[in-house]
Parts: sequence; C-alpha cells; structure tokens
Amino acid sequence: MPRYQRPTGTLDILPEDQAYWEHVRAHACRLAQRAGFERLDLPLFETTELFARGIGTGTDVVEKEMYTFKDKGGDSLTLRPEFTAGVIRAYIENGLHVRPQPVKLYSIGPVFRYERPQAGRYRQHTQFNMEILGEQDPAADLEVMLLVWDLYADLGFRDLAFQLNSTGCPRCRPAYVEVLKGYYQQHLAEICPDCQRRLGTNPLRVLDCKVAGCQPVIADAPRIGDHLCDECATHFAQLREYLDLLQRPYTLNHRLVRGLDYYTKTVFEVWAAGIGAQAAVCGGGRYDGLIELLGGPPTPGVGVAVGLERIILGMKAQGVSVPDLPAPPVFLAHLGPQARLEAVRVAEDLRRAGIGVWLAFGERGLKSQLREAGKRAARFVVILGEEELARGLATLRDMTAGEQQEIPLAELTSWLQRRAVP
Ligand code: HAM
Repeated sequence: MPRYQRPTGTLDILPEDQAYWEHVRAHACRLAQRAGFERLDLPLFETTELFARGIGTGTDVVEKEMYTFKDKGGDSLTLRPEFTAGVIRAYIENGLHVRPQPVKLYSIGPVFRYERPQAGRYRQHTQFNMEILGEQDPAADLEVMLLVWDLYADLGFRDLAFQLNSTGCPRCRPAYVEVLKGYYQQHLAEICPDCQRRLGTNPLRVLDCKVAGCQPVIADAPRIGDHLCDECATHFAQLREYLDLLQRPYTLNHRLVRGLDYYTKTVFEVWAAGIGAQAAVCGGGRYDGLIELLGGPPTPGVGVAVGLERIILGMKAQGVSVPDLPAPPVFLAHLGPQARLEAVRVAEDLRRAGIGVWLAFGERGLKSQLREAGKRAARFVVILGEEELARGLATLRDMTAGEQQEIPLAELTSWLQRRAVP
C-alpha cells in the first residue's frame, strides 16, 4: 500500500495543538468585535481575474504563487492567496458601500500560496484579516495597527516592533520611481539579475531584495519619504504623532514596500522573535485606489492580516502557555450487561444536561476501566454495577478528593451539574 503524506508545505493541526488555535482565534475575534468589526466569510476561491487585477500582475503572489485551475465549466478560478481582494469584491457586490461608512470587517480562514516551504512559511496558512473600508483618517490606520499590537501583547509576545513606511500615492509615487530607477541605472553592474528584471516589472521591490551584493546599493538608494506629496506626508506625520502619543515603538523602514501592488500611503509589519526565517507576524497598510480599481466607487481602505501559524510558533518559542481545552469531567464505568444498557442511557441524560461524559466502551473489568479514567484525567468516575442498579444507586468517585459514595441514580444529574459544569 502507498503511504500517503500531506502535501508539501501543509500542516496537520493535531488535537494537542488545538488549545493554542482556539485561544488565538477566540482572542482575535473578541478584539476585533470590541472595536466594531463584523465578521465576513468568503469563498475559498474566486475568479482568477479578481486577484490578478487586485494584487497586481507583476507581484510574486500573482506571477508565481497562485493555485489556479479551470473548473469543469471552463472558468479560471484561484484558491484565495489573501483576503483583501475578496473582501472588496464582497463589499461592492453586496452593496456594503451604501451602508454608513466606514464598514469594518474581519475574516478568518486558510489562504493558499505556492511558496518555497521553510520554518514559518507554508503553502496553506491561516490568516486573521481586518479591513476598514470608507475611511481616510490616519486614526483608522492607527486602529488596525493597535489591534494587532494588542493581540500580540495579550498573547504574551515580547520584543515586538512595528516596521513602518509610507509608499506614497499615484500622485507622488511615479516621480519617486523614476528617481529610484535613475539611481539603479547607475548601479546596474552591482545588482542581482532579479533586481535588474524587477526594475522593469515592479521597481519598488528592488528595495526588498535579500541578496548580499544588492545591500550596499539599497542602503544608499533614494528614500520615498523624501518624495511624498503634501497629502501623503501629512497623513504619515499624523499617524506617527498618534503612535508617539500612545508610546508604541516603531522603526521607520524605508525599505518596507510589501509584496502586493495595491498599497498607498501607510505600510507596516510587526516583527517578532522565534519564528525562523519569517519574522513578520502580520502585514498591512492602506489601499486608497483598490476599491475603485475593482469596480466600486472611489473609497479609501486600510487593513491588516495576521498569520496564525507564525503567532503560534512564536508563542511556543517564547514559552507562552494557554489554558487546556476542557475534557469531559465524568468517566462512566459499568459492570454487567444490564448496567451497560443503563450506562448508555445515563451518558445521554448527563450530556443533554450539559455535563461532559466519557462513556467506557466494550465489556471490561473495573480495573481496566478505572485505568482508562485515570488516563482521561476525569474528575469524577461514575460506576454502574448490577447490584447497585437493582437498588437504584450509582457509585461515585471523586478522583481529586479521593472519596467514594453511593448516590441515588435519580439525583446523579443534579449532583454532577452542581459540581462538574463550569
Ligand atoms: P501578507 O503580508 O502577504 O499580507 O500576509 C499577511 C501575513 O500572513 C504575513 O505577515 C504572515 O504572518 C502571514 N503569511 C503570509 N504568507 C505566509 C506563508 N506562506 N506561510 C505562513 N504565513 C504566511 C496580506 O495578505 C494582505 N492581504 C494584508 C492586508 C490586509 N493588507 C491590507 N489588508
């Protein structure tokens, strides 16, 4: 028989890891809801054209990383490589733009990118995504930044740092790109072939190159911060003023350009220790032209996406623990055919009353059942024996107190409800 393996770059999230996932998911949703975000669930796939147009045809995501396929009707579809384009498609398609603005939306779920797998980088990963649509106030940029910051801080992360930049807008960026290209033309012999190619396809991305030989050229490259128009410069200054006021540390990083084409003005990431090659636990920014580009009215927007696998890797690396998921507090043992029948009924009654029950299966001796109760870490063991049943009783062991007593079967549910329901 072949031994099947999960596809390269995917994860199985085993029961012992679910406590982390549950904790992080619940916390993220709570934070978002507290700030007025509403949940939006989207299809796992969209038309390929939406991502090509939204994210940009010259980006790595669209050029190399999308899982694109033709369905049986011949339509080209793509497993979502991010949420933002889909959120905006839904915002326009469902008329959310005619509701009172801004609209704040959050989404959570898997996204798919054909990347080279390594520590913290997968081909299917999970994002928690937040968008504020219809608002240009830098306070909206601040809000999504603070929400992710609070998320990490509450989850026990230390040594956090915002990386922050402004990438300008269609009014000021083209002139900067020309200056940047002019500078790179003088250094063509010193840069890698990829950067030489990027200069033609996606020039800002040269600033993100990791090749050692390109670093001195990047270090001396003209900075976009010196070429912002008045509107972008004011927006950026205001955002920084807010961050200073709230004492959230950030590093101005003129090399931070992000891998998706839609950004205007603010871009940011949060970097955290302990995640391997990929230090960014989230990334986001403003995209004031995207809604119009995708067929909606001119509408500003800003948002962020958090990679949940990286958060959990980081929590483990930093030794952050989470509460255990609740296991059934009651183990139900039984001896003899009559008691076995009764046990099925009692288990059902208890569960319907909201009490977690692990029912022993099969016909086994008491010793073996008690051993299992120990392994399941049950707090109470209820033992149904033929003789007690005949008297309408059950034996109840409190494993923490080390005590045992007989209880009328008719009172078992209410007795356990008082003690075993959180
Ligand atoms: P992104 O930076 O491409 O942004 O992804 C957001 C986060 O997802 C990253 O910071 C990282 O934590 C995680 N992530 C990305 N790729 C992988 C991967 N291959 N394996 C594991 N984790 C990964 C976006 O997707 C934008 N849509 C964010 C946004 C929302 N901008 C505005 N609104």
